[in-house]
Amino acid sequence: MIWLIGCKGMLGSEVAKQLEEKKLPWVGTDKEVDITDPQALLDFTNKIETAAYFPSDLRRADRKIRWIINCSAYTNVDKAEEEVELAEKLNATGPLNIARLARSIGAKLIHISTDYVFDGQGNQPYTEDMPKAPLGVYGRTKAAGEDAIMKEMNTYYIIRTAWLYGFDGKNFVYTMTRAMNSHEQVRVVNDQMGTPTYAPDLAAAILRFIEKSENAKSFFGKNSAPAYGIYHFTNEGQTNWHEFASEIYRLGRKYGHITNDCRVDACTTEEYGAKVQRPAYSVLSKAKISKALKIKIPEWQVSLEKFVKSERFRTE
Ligand SMILES: NC(=O)c1ccc[n+]([C@@H]2O[C@H](COP(=O)([O-])OP(=O)(O)OC[C@H]3O[C@@H](n4cnc5c(N)ncnc54)[C@H](OP(=O)(O)O)[C@@H]3O)[C@@H](O)[C@H]2O)c1
Repeated sequence: MIWLIGCKGMLGSEVAKQLEEKKLPWVGTDKEVDITDPQALLDFTNKIETAAYFPSDLRRADRKIRWIINCSAYTNVDKAEEEVELAEKLNATGPLNIARLARSIGAKLIHISTDYVFDGQGNQPYTEDMPKAPLGVYGRTKAAGEDAIMKEMNTYYIIRTAWLYGFDGKNFVYTMTRAMNSHEQVRVVNDQMGTPTYAPDLAAAILRFIEKSENAKSFFGKNSAPAYGIYHFTNEGQTNWHEFASEIYRLGRKYGHITNDCRVDACTTEEYGAKVQRPAYSVLSKAKISKALKIKIPEWQVSLEKFVKSERFRTE
């Protein structure tokens, strides 16, 4: 049984969809099982593993929680600067509680983290072993969540991602599409480099960790399961927010989501005057995850077009 925490979020809802499509035994919770409350997590575990919680015909063996996927988090980067305590509770204490529980019940944990654990001062794709140096509250609390998991248990996969967008949730693609439909001009920064991530691509990688681990074979004492640890996942390639916005405009026009004429102007971060400092360069190296999962990650433009042309794309 897989327990998906944060199943109603932008990424969580995509993982839920794919779990359903693959007919894997899973259960999802969101805010109603509060990750900041260890007792609530334990109570839910007991309910799943012991009681007749499901009216379905799940076999008893399937009720044992073998995997926990944590997609819940505090994700508002700007607001985190004011709601420091809440961000800490959700991004640091929550993962600690989940890791403790996972260890106590012998479950493996997949946890999602962020490029914001880096300061973005580099100019080469960040590898997993590079030192963390978060700039703001969001990055600092997410880094603390990673540390708590690593201290608490060994059987974890921490997947750092960046610039995430998906069908169910607030994201840059929807925000830009709406703005481009209602304004004659938008201004977007062109001095922050990174790579967008299409939530269904990331969800597929998450489930692949489970499949590869469950189907792993041991040859001459060598296990073929992906090694536990930290991995990076975004789409392939690199861009800046202005170029990303320009591509959203082009595709939005092509597929009829943007009917307005809008100029997409570039500006610097300084000119834009953002509240929170963001990493200037946050391209993540995907070499480790591609090799471990034996996957070819799609280029960001390819996945963006899939998103925009999908019937599920809706900005209201
Ligand atoms: N979005 C990005 O651009 C981005 C970039 C890099 C990394 N990430 C990471 O990717 C992961 C998924 O992000 P996302 O954008 O899908 O997040 P999201 O849409 O904000 O989803 C998080 C979910 O967690 C729920 N939640 C809040 N408090 C909770 C609690 N106390 N207990 C249980 N659940 C709770 C939220 O409910 P409410 O919505 O009702 O609060 C929401 O459904 C996060 O770890 C995030 O840090 C995101």
